[in-house]
Amino acid sequence: MTNAALIHLDRIPDGGFADAAADLHGDMEPLVLYRDGNDVRAWVNVCPHAGRQLNWAPGEFLKSKDGMLVCAAHGASFELQSGECVAGPCRGESLRSVEVEVRDGAVWVRTAG
Ligand code: FES
Repeated sequence: MTNAALIHLDRIPDGGFADAAADLHGDMEPLVLYRDGNDVRAWVNVCPHAGRQLNWAPGEFLKSKDGMLVCAAHGASFELQSGECVAGPCRGESLRSVEVEVRDGAVWVRTAG
């Protein structure tokens, strides 16, 4: 597994999103990153509804007024702690979370073991 930073923290707006890609178990997977101050959460950018990416344009994601990540394809709304779909066509399912950490001003995949 390569050990490269996904993105500089500065490139993610606070309270907003960015995309990235990471080698997870030998496969390059698209990621959606969400920044909350100095904390970043990440999920694989594949909607559990129909397998589409959640963004509407490269690196552009929708956030609802009540602070949910909204899939641009059919409007599933995901809560930003757990990545669980709380409204829309895949309610009760979840995005696949990816463990990341912020280090040296950048975001890194936390490597297991
Ligand atoms: S693919 Fe995301 S809501 Fe349908």
